[in-house]
Amino acid sequence: MTTEDLIAKAWEAREKAYAPYSKFQVGAALLSSDGQVFPGCNVENISYGLTNCAERVAIGAAVAQGVRSFDRVAVVADTGEPISPCGACRQVLAEFGVKTIILANKQGSVEFSLEELLPRASTGILDKA
Ligand code: THU
Repeated sequence: MTTEDLIAKAWEAREKAYAPYSKFQVGAALLSSDGQVFPGCNVENISYGLTNCAERVAIGAAVAQGVRSFDRVAVVADTGEPISPCGACRQVLAEFGVKTIILANKQGSVEFSLEELLPRASTGILDKA
């Protein structure tokens, strides 16, 4: 799966976004280590705080299918600058070791490592002194 193909899958997923409150639609496509693609879109809620971002929806869908090992994720939105995942999503991507994060808008894409977006994500947690 090329990065372009993964981005195309994320745009497809974005079509499903449930975003009646923000009207801001986000799509994600998560590529597992064994080559499967898991789509995600944002799913909002009237309580706002219960909103799920596209990235976490994709992770949840994959984990529910028994998949926990990932290669990369593409996240897309129709923004001026490529969209950037929220802090919560970065932490969840870190939980499952998503190595590469591709962020795209209609003009193009940029690629980051997880370490760039969330340095020292779990360093020290559960370490014994
Ligand atoms: N959102 C995502 O789905 N992913 C991101 O990376 C940023 C924000 C959603 C959450 C909410 O439904 C809307 O975009 C506005 O924040």
